[in-house]
Amino acid sequence: MAATDLQQNTPSTRQTPLLIYGAYGYTGQLIVEECLTRGWRPVLGGRDASKLAAVAEPHNLPHVAFTLGDRAALDATLGQVSAVLHCAGPFIHTAQRMLEGCLRTGTHYLDITGEIQVFQALAAQSALAREAGIMVVPGVGFDVVPTDCLARWLKEQQPRATELELAFEGLGGVSQGTAHTAVEQAGEGGAVRRDGYIQRVPPAHRTRQVDFGDGPVTVASIPWGDVATAYYSTGIPNITTYARLPQQTIRAMKGLRLAAPLARQRSVKRLLHWWVDRQPAGPDEETRTTGRTRVWGCATADDGTFAEGLLYGPEGYAFTAAAATEAAGRTLDGVGTPGFQTPATAFGADLVLSIPGVERFLISAPPRPVYPS
Ligand SMILES: NC(=O)c1ccc[n+]([C@@H]2O[C@H](COP(=O)([O-])OP(=O)(O)OC[C@H]3O[C@@H](n4cnc5c(N)ncnc54)[C@H](OP(=O)(O)O)[C@@H]3O)[C@@H](O)[C@H]2O)c1
Repeated sequence: MAATDLQQNTPSTRQTPLLIYGAYGYTGQLIVEECLTRGWRPVLGGRDASKLAAVAEPHNLPHVAFTLGDRAALDATLGQVSAVLHCAGPFIHTAQRMLEGCLRTGTHYLDITGEIQVFQALAAQSALAREAGIMVVPGVGFDVVPTDCLARWLKEQQPRATELELAFEGLGGVSQGTAHTAVEQAGEGGAVRRDGYIQRVPPAHRTRQVDFGDGPVTVASIPWGDVATAYYSTGIPNITTYARLPQQTIRAMKGLRLAAPLARQRSVKRLLHWWVDRQPAGPDEETRTTGRTRVWGCATADDGTFAEGLLYGPEGYAFTAAAATEAAGRTLDGVGTPGFQTPATAFGADLVLSIPGVERFLISAPPRPVYPS
């Protein structure tokens, strides 16, 4: 089918609503399970036919194997669906080709990246997405749904905020895919946003105390996706993101600053990827069901007044599966406007409250103006 035919076949008229690409990865499989729980029957995609069949066939789900370099197969598959939920990372290697397919075929694009460069690259193509009539919503996993929604909500409480700080704790363990993605970023250092621009800074360049609800703990700055996305969600020009990490990890991050050029070498990355391949695929079921994550945020204005809030939710990968599926569902329901969107600009700050187990608290906020009645 030619690309022009595919574009006339608008998202709302297509036979099967959703393609999950990377469906046999650790997180892709969790998302497939979540879709099945909702009674959906997505098309599954991925580059390895036998791994794909092993996930699809037990549920009798439609599936199609193709690489992202096979433009004809990519377009033919995207042309049959309204939206793709792209789960095959590191996204630095995969997002652009998937986006180009979506632009050619008029298919909504969602992914679970947390990579700052990917958010920035996709944001730069917002006008193309608007022209194609599609939404481009990266980051519909734990990175960045809870932090993004909290950031947007805090900005609503303190509309004059010029400084945003976000922190999280509770990632019990990471999947191989997350670790491979981190290896690809190794040696790049940290990142913050200052006066609207993303700046590279040393790893763990800032530490501070944060109270997630049971007393102050130390968090260290890390380059989380919100350094890119929260600017679009809130307009706040200064953004720092932190994670709660053990003291020895923070010391190691600082100590390894001089090793950054080494970590960027392909041979070192190959060794690290080899080691990651020998680790468990991801957190086990018990960890996913019992784990909890906590997010803290503070939006501060130039006069020092601030809005501070907390958000508690499920374990990170359980969070990702629930959030990504919810975002895909809303996209298929026609929520949101074409162009680049963050989860919070597409679906609102309350998107996160639809995820089972999520609670949100306002700790303090500036007094509201009192208008004469
Ligand atoms: N935002 C979040 O909070 C969040 C949460 C979870 C995961 N993630 C991200 O999602 C990605 C996947 O994580 P995971 O845990 O599912 O990892 P995983 O178990 O390693 O799965 C990765 C999947 O991507 C596929 N893939 C990788 N490179 C590909 C390429 N060039 N072309 C086609 N397919 C490719 C793999 O296929 P093969 O087996 O054929 O290589 C596999 O299906 C990672 O980047 C991770 O950081 C983000």
